[in-house]
Amino acid sequence: MESEKEKGFATRCVHAGEGHNPFGAHATPIYQTSTFVFDSAEQAAAAFSGGPGYRYVRSPPGTPTHAAFVEKICSLEGGPAGLSFSSGMAAEAALVFATLQKGDHLLTADVIYGGTYGLFSSLLPKFGIEVSFVDTTDPEKVEGGLQENTRLVFLESPANPTVAVSDIGEISQIAHEAGARLAVDNTFATPYFQRPLALGADVVVESCTKYIGGHGDLLGGVAVGEKELISAMKRPALLAGGTMGTHEAWLCLRGLKTLHLRMERHAENALRLARFLEAHPAVEKVNYPGLCSHPQHAVAKKQMSGWGGMLSFEVLGGVEAGRRLMNHLKLASLAVSLGCVDTLVEHPASMTHAVMPKEVREKMGITDGLVRVSVGIEDGEDILADFAQGLDKIGGN
Ligand SMILES: Cc1ncc(COP(=O)(O)O)c(C=O)c1O
Repeated sequence: MESEKEKGFATRCVHAGEGHNPFGAHATPIYQTSTFVFDSAEQAAAAFSGGPGYRYVRSPPGTPTHAAFVEKICSLEGGPAGLSFSSGMAAEAALVFATLQKGDHLLTADVIYGGTYGLFSSLLPKFGIEVSFVDTTDPEKVEGGLQENTRLVFLESPANPTVAVSDIGEISQIAHEAGARLAVDNTFATPYFQRPLALGADVVVESCTKYIGGHGDLLGGVAVGEKELISAMKRPALLAGGTMGTHEAWLCLRGLKTLHLRMERHAENALRLARFLEAHPAVEKVNYPGLCSHPQHAVAKKQMSGWGGMLSFEVLGGVEAGRRLMNHLKLASLAVSLGCVDTLVEHPASMTHAVMPKEVREKMGITDGLVRVSVGIEDGEDILADFAQGLDKIGGN
């Protein structure tokens, strides 16, 4: 593990976590089992009283396939410990179960994935946990939003779907001074472009459903961070379930082997599309951290090594024009999720963020006319040509 950290990112994508294989298998095997057999009652008792080893797949570390995946993602995120989950939401649920209790306060970003918003706004208050939402792109607002009982600050950067960027280093200092931990959802950037733990965050969560799996064929989640916090998440992981399937762990392990290559191409195509859209007369506004017009372009430049593959934009003519565009795209598919090899578009107001009240959405820039694009790794010219022909159609032809 130590020596792997010294190797380059691409080498770790390929090699970290691999190679602990019996019988000389070149690829890490899928340990398709639900339980593990012990040599003796004493060995079993030791394993169940906190000792090392595999027990039952719901109990971390699951199987050697899960362990290999977690070792690889820990190496890439630069964290000492990690846990895998059945989805990004399961990872977030375990995080809040582990860090918050009745009477505590969670301070979270106002721009976040709709499912996360639903978990925080409707489920946590039922357990006596106070939740407030602030604009985390402004560190002063974060400072102003902290309370004596704030135990956790949670943000996404870049955030879904406006790609708003928050200053992770500055916010981690503010949170720590107030005795709170900082959790960062790194789903959009991935460890290839941003490493929140190195910037000061205590824990990173990611939906593996997206760029980690990378091919739109699995659901998964992961948390990586300081040992004590990850240990505290093991109990909710075990008792609430939300266990990553073994086949999914293997797909994530395989997906990560090409993360560096895919992310480069996603970002190259996204920048081309962002520039094309920004210059297009039918487009009102483009949100992409790589554009100088992005309000937090300088913060993104400071903490990210690339801009990622996600963008959103508004077409002139609002929701009707946006719908016409999405209905006319031929290469890009209309679907939620993101981070797949192919280009996906979706309408946050009626799809991923429909759970948010309209006035809450609009205040943070999730307007009815906003279209989100997960830019794929196809040929850039083909993606541009698809949007060009789609935008030609919004006049009603
Ligand atoms: C930024 C972000 N975080 C978390 C999630 C939840 O992940 P999952 O769908 O794997 O539960 C999503 C899902 O779209 C997301 O976009």
